[in-house]
Amino acid sequence: MVCLGNICRSPLAEGIFSAKAKEAGFDCRVDSAGTGNWHIGEPPHPLSRRVASMNNIDISHLRARQFSPVDFDNFDYIYFMDRENLKDAKKIAGNKWDPSKAALLLDVLEEHDTKDVPDPYFGGFEGYIEVFELISNACEKIIIELNMANNKATF
Ligand code: 4NP
Repeated sequence: MVCLGNICRSPLAEGIFSAKAKEAGFDCRVDSAGTGNWHIGEPPHPLSRRVASMNNIDISHLRARQFSPVDFDNFDYIYFMDRENLKDAKKIAGNKWDPSKAALLLDVLEEHDTKDVPDPYFGGFEGYIEVFELISNACEKIIIELNMANNKATF
């Protein structure tokens, strides 16, 4: 799960995906990173932590790190929160970029007109609630699809 700062959207996506995967019995390792380096080592934003905990998800132990080309060796799928994050990560990844592993998180929500998870950093708590819902819907659908591909029970 990749965003810009790795403190607002992608730690939420990591926590939400992990929680839903556990619930669905889908065995996987989830991580998150930012294309930027400003917040390395920081915990998630207080409003991301708040909206997560309101939904019984604890992300307070996560610490920001920067996206790295070796993430393409270490992960099967890499989901980007917005098109800018994808473009920046492509530059960072260089010849490690693998289009078969990379996708926009919201691509899975076909009915949705925007493909970008809005950046809530400069706004209020409502933005974090909206982001939580979007990420949650996308993660749920991805887990159902991956579980179906693996022939396992779903929610
Ligand atoms: P994120 O949000 O990419 O969802 O973690 C942001 C966090 C920090 C900044 C921008 C977006 N920043 O400019 O520091």
